[in-house]
Amino acid sequence: MASDRAPEASAPLNGSELDTASADRRKELAARAAAELVCDGMKVGLGTGTTVAHLLSALGERATELSHAGFVATSPATERIARELGLGVCELDELVGNGGELDIAIDGADQIDPDAWLIKGGGGAHTREKIVAAAARRFVVIVSTDKLVASLRPPVPLEVLPFGAHRTLAALGDARLRDGPASPDGNLLAFYDGPIEDPRALAARLSDTPGVVEHGLFAPELVSEVLIGAEDGTQRRPGGKPAE
Ligand code: 5RP
Repeated sequence: MASDRAPEASAPLNGSELDTASADRRKELAARAAAELVCDGMKVGLGTGTTVAHLLSALGERATELSHAGFVATSPATERIARELGLGVCELDELVGNGGELDIAIDGADQIDPDAWLIKGGGGAHTREKIVAAAARRFVVIVSTDKLVASLRPPVPLEVLPFGAHRTLAALGDARLRDGPASPDGNLLAFYDGPIEDPRALAARLSDTPGVVEHGLFAPELVSEVLIGAEDGTQRRPGGKPAE
């Protein structure tokens, strides 16, 4: 089962580490701003992690008002919390299996660079998270300022098929299995530790490696906007996906 544990450390843009309480307050600010984008009747994708936990709390406070909304969870942890809060959790295919789209998906990130490239998967749910982000008309990323980086840094989370996993990691070079539970779909979780000079080239290489189910690099064109919880409120940045 995917956990809600804190993500791998990233290199902060401003060179300062935030203490846990400050980072958590900023995550909550971004999450609450994103919760306001959700209206009754919407089809909504929910990510995974500690920032999303704040989103779930904010949505849970409005569970009665949102009784006709359908929520897709990207991990067992998110699904359990969402159900406990009274949100109507559905399967992705129930909501958009006929080729439709989610109205919105909201998720955290481990790192985000100035071009809106993301590293995700600190909680091991990046495969489902990418499927849900790609199924959404609008994908909103919620982060605290310490997730902003000048350039992406390893490790990049990987989900790897158990069959031939050591061969898959050897083919990648700088890669290792992660400690901890399997992915929500029973695959192995790993890290790619090599350099990320060109995220698009690396994303293509990881995708092209047989046995890699999915990697945690999310391209800017998936991202509609970024809500950044900062000391003095929430800032908005456009992603690389054109607004409708
Ligand atoms: C889970 C993720 C999370 O969004 C990412 O790890 C950020 O987590 P948090 O909100 O706990 O800082 O990608 O797979």
